[in-house]
This record gives sequence, structure tokens and C-alpha cells, in this order.
Amino acid sequence: MSENVVTVQNLIKHYKDVKAVDGISFAVKRGEIFGIVGPNGAGKTTTIECIASMRRADSGSVDVLGLDPVKDSIVLKRRIGLQQQESEIQDRLRLWEAMELFSSFYDTVLDWKALLKQLNLWEKKDSFYSALSGGQKKRFFVAMALIGDPEIVFLDEFTSGLDPQSRISIWKLVKELRDQGRTIVLSTHYMDEAEKLCDRVAIIDHGKLTALDSPSNLISMHGGHIRVQFDVGDVFDGESLSRLEGVESVLNDGNVCTLEVSASSTIVEIVKKLDAMGQGLDSFRIEAPTLEDVFLNITGREVRD
Ligand SMILES: Nc1ncnc2c1ncn2[C@@H]1O[C@H](COP(=O)(O)OP(=O)(O)O)[C@@H](O)[C@H]1O
Ligand SMILES: [Mg+2]
Repeated sequence: MSENVVTVQNLIKHYKDVKAVDGISFAVKRGEIFGIVGPNGAGKTTTIECIASMRRADSGSVDVLGLDPVKDSIVLKRRIGLQQQESEIQDRLRLWEAMELFSSFYDTVLDWKALLKQLNLWEKKDSFYSALSGGQKKRFFVAMALIGDPEIVFLDEFTSGLDPQSRISIWKLVKELRDQGRTIVLSTHYMDEAEKLCDRVAIIDHGKLTALDSPSNLISMHGGHIRVQFDVGDVFDGESLSRLEGVESVLNDGNVCTLEVSASSTIVEIVKKLDAMGQGLDSFRIEAPTLEDVFLNITGREVRD
């Protein structure tokens, strides 16, 4: 069992009358990619800010690398890296100047040239910060979060607004960081991203933790059934399919027949049956449950309503 590098117990944070974080507890293990996922306004940013020494919680306890983010803020900030959802630096700084400047703040630093290359920003090294696109700014702040060679990297909504290619290059970088032994705590409202990238995921909603496990465990516990669909003509009779073991429901709307299936082995039986019935399989499709379904099943809502 690996060591916990972050322990949060009963964290509570209000902004005036808004309860942004409402009694959250969890622990992050060294060397994992830990995702905090949930819709906008769920309390992800507030949680990360309380852990990464940017905000003081109203109550509860937070331990990061054996340190208290409030009392030991200066020491802690040298050991962690934070990319904030909304950050700005001076417009008239060139990227290389900013990287040099921020490198001077730390005893141990990563090679910023390599970082800019990895984040597809090398061609922009002489540009002013103000001349970067939104996606480039986002990637630049990921580089800034990494410059001090952090043990724990916090990435808050790190891919929102990024084009698909940039998202993929950051995912690759995040995995490399994990493989180097670093711990990554990220937040996202993209469930597919959390499912692909995270070792464990904490789902939060209205400031409360609703589930915490690996994506595959969450999906097998809360994802619901596998869906099988195929196009049908108006004479199709799905009755015999409903008698197959593992078929939970059959819905035939006259155009598409949708089956909910509790075991993947049932799919083979369905295919055999359809073949025996002379039903073409061209449109046959299988939809496995995703983390998106987990959220829907736990909260009764879509992540983005
Ligand atoms: N600085 C702030 N002042 C007042 N309310 C805030 C502030 N920051 C966040 N909130 C509110 O707290 C709740 C949680 O916000 P946040 O932690 O930013 O959630 P998320 O990052 O999941 O979108 C939301 O209702 C948001 O409007
Ligand atoms: Mg946020």
C-alpha cells in the first residue's frame, strides 16, 4: 500500500452563503493520477485551492506531504506545482523570460526548454504572453506548474477549451509525469478524459464527494448495463431475445431495437440468435457504460445540463 501524499478530512469552505465544499474527505496516494471530477460549480477548484495552499478552508483538515497548507505554505509551495483554472501574468513578458524568471524561484528546476517543446510551445518562446491563444496560455501555465520539479502537480480544469491535439499532448505529458514518480491531482468536467487518464477518480457534486474509485470499478459498480443496438424493420419481433439469459430489457421502437445486457457473454448469444433469425448485423453496435453513465446513475443528472 503506497503512502498518502494528500489527506483531506471533512473539508468545508463557504463563500458568504454559498457552501462551495461541504465536508469532503479523501486521500491521494503517491504516484497516482487522481482526478476530481464533477460539473461546473461542484467545488473542484475550491478543493484544489485549499489543498495547494491558495485558500484557507473554514474547517476540516488538510495534510500535504506531511505539511499544513496554511501554516507551512512557503515550504509546501516549493514542493508542489499548481496550474490554476484562471491565471494571468504580465502581458509584456516573453515566454522565455517568464520561464527564466520562474526558474530562479526554485532550488531544483526542470529544463524549461524541454517543457516548452513537450507542450508544443517552443516556436512561441520569443512571443509576448499577450500574443498567445487561449490554448497556448493554458499549456504555458502547465509548463509553469512543472518548472519547480514538483512532487505533486495540481492541474485545475487543465484541458478545458483546448483543441483535441493539445489535449492529447497534455495527457501524454501527465502520464510521463506519473511514470517519473510524481503525483498528479487534476480536475476536469470531461468524464471521458477522467476515464482515460486517471488511476482513481473522486466524483464531486454540490460540494460533496459522491463516489471514489478507479474508473473501471466505478463503471462496474454504477455504470449500469451494456447496451446493444441494431436497426430493425417494422416486422421485427424482439420477444425471443428477451428470454436470453443476461438480457435485462428489450425496447423496439420500430426503427431501432435496444437491449440492455448485464454480461458481455450475452452479446455472443444475441448475435447467434439474430443470425438464426436472418436479421442482418450491419448496424449492430455495442455501447459499454462510461463514467458519464456513472455520474448520471449516481446523481440523476447529466454532467453538463
Ligand atoms: N471567489 C468566490 N466567491 C464566491 N463564490 C464562489 C467563489 N469561487 C467559487 N464560488 C462558488 O462556489 C461554488 C464552487 O465553485 P468552484 O470551486 O469554482 O467549483 P468548480 O471548480 O467545480 O466549478 C460555486 O457555486 C461557485 O459559484
Ligand atoms: Mg473550477
